[in-house]
Amino acid sequence: MTLTVEDVHSGYGGGTVLHGVGLAIPTGTALAVLGRNGAGKTTLVHTICGLIKPRAGRIALDGLELAGRPAHRVARAGIALVPQGRRVFASLTVAEHLALSRRRGEWTVPRVLQLLPRLQERLRNRGNQLSGGEAQMLAIARALLTQPKVLLLDEPCEGLAVDLADRVRAVVAELARGGLTVLLVEQQPEHALAVADRVALLADGMVASTHTAAQLRADPSLTDHVLSVASH
Ligand SMILES: Nc1ncnc2c1ncn2[C@@H]1O[C@H](COP(=O)(O)OP(=O)(O)O)[C@@H](O)[C@H]1O
Ligand SMILES: [Mg+2]
Repeated sequence: MTLTVEDVHSGYGGGTVLHGVGLAIPTGTALAVLGRNGAGKTTLVHTICGLIKPRAGRIALDGLELAGRPAHRVARAGIALVPQGRRVFASLTVAEHLALSRRRGEWTVPRVLQLLPRLQERLRNRGNQLSGGEAQMLAIARALLTQPKVLLLDEPCEGLAVDLADRVRAVVAELARGGLTVLLVEQQPEHALAVADRVALLADGMVASTHTAAQLRADPSLTDHVLSVASH
C-alpha cells in the first residue's frame, strides 16, 4: 500500500507546525523521518493517522483519500501507530492489551508472540510492571494485531538501553523485509539507517531533503544541518 502525503499543513490552535510536508512511501518500503526535537515529527504521524485534522493537503493510501478522516476510519483503512512513549495501560496485563487490540487477520496473537517472544513470558504482567523495552514490544504487538498495511512508529527506541533498542530495530527491520510499509520517526540517524530504505530530513515542519540510506551512510554530514542545535 503506497502512502502518499502531499503538501500537508497542520498544527494546533493558532500555530502551524507543518508547512507543506510531502512524502511517498511505496508498498513494502521503509521511510525514516529524521529530525530534531520539535521539528514536527509527532505532529506529522498524528496528522497521518487522523488524530489531528490537517488544514490543507492530501494523505492517501493507494489512492484512498484519508486527510480529515477520523482516526478510527484511518485505522480501518490499514494505518496503525506505535505512539511515542508507548502508551500502554498501567493496570492492564499484556494478555488483556493483546485481546483488546485484536482484529481478524493474518497477525494472530501466537504469531505476534513468536515475533516478540519476550511478551510470552510477560502475558500476566501489568503495563506498570514492564520494562521500557517490553512496553515497546507490547506497543508494536498491539499495532500489528490491528492488521495494518502501513505501520507508523514514533521514536520506538527512545529511552531504551542499547541492547533493547537493537532488538526493537531488528523487529522493525524484519517487519519491513516482510513487506509491511513502514514510516519510522527518529532523532538518531543510526536508528533510522538500521531500518529505512530512504530517509527524509524534517526541519521546522518541512522536508528539507530526502536521501537513500546508502547516500546517508556514505555522507553522514548530510544530516548535520537538520540535527545540530547550533544551526537554529
Ligand atoms: N498539543 C500541542 N499543542 C500545541 N503545540 C504543540 C502540541 N504538540 C506539539 N506542539 C508543538 O509543535 C511543535 C512540533 O512538535 P512535535 O510534532 O511534537 O515535534 P517532534 O515530534 O519532532 O519533537 C513544537 O513546537 C511543539 O511545541
Ligand atoms: Mg515527537
